Amino acid sequence: MKNILLIGFMGVGKGSVAREVIKLSDFVSVDTDDLIESMENRVVKKIFEQSGEVYFRNLEKKIALWLEQNVTNTLISTGGGFYKQENLKDIGIVVFLNSPFDKIIKRIKNHPNAVKKLKKRPLLNDLKKAKELYNERLPQYAAVADITIDVTDKSAIDCAKELLQKVKQYA
Ligand code: S3P
Repeated sequence: MKNILLIGFMGVGKGSVAREVIKLSDFVSVDTDDLIESMENRVVKKIFEQSGEVYFRNLEKKIALWLEQNVTNTLISTGGGFYKQENLKDIGIVVFLNSPFDKIIKRIKNHPNAVKKLKKRPLLNDLKKAKELYNERLPQYAAVADITIDVTDKSAIDCAKELLQKVKQYA
């Protein structure tokens, strides 16, 4: 089985869906932000603050090349900007988790850890700018995706089941 890459905007639920997919399948999952944080020994927010976004994007590129060359049979959840990697399609089947911007923000705000979830994402600090970023990215996510799943008002487990059903044709 090829890798499966989860792409989509911040807070759409990539991590939650990944956690359900691994319960329902033999996949092991990794998260590109987690890989970067452990390599750097600092959280994404600090990397942005101390070293800047360009530095972070270069780390994403390094991870993308490493994934392509070294990782198979893995569910890879990605940071919201990772979809821009040139070799994305060479890493695996690209699954876009889609939901309207307002629903994504509502989902984050309804979470028990909402404040933490907003704070840890530098690009969500200003919601007006975040919406512009969403509008800019939406067609790009859709264009690069092999599979799109509308996650709006669906449980993570239902999204995971839909994902496993849809990736079967790529096995
Ligand atoms: C980013 C999304 C974040 C993280 C970083 C940049 C983006 O990941 O990689 O803050 O550019 O959309 P999540 O999508 O997991 O929040």
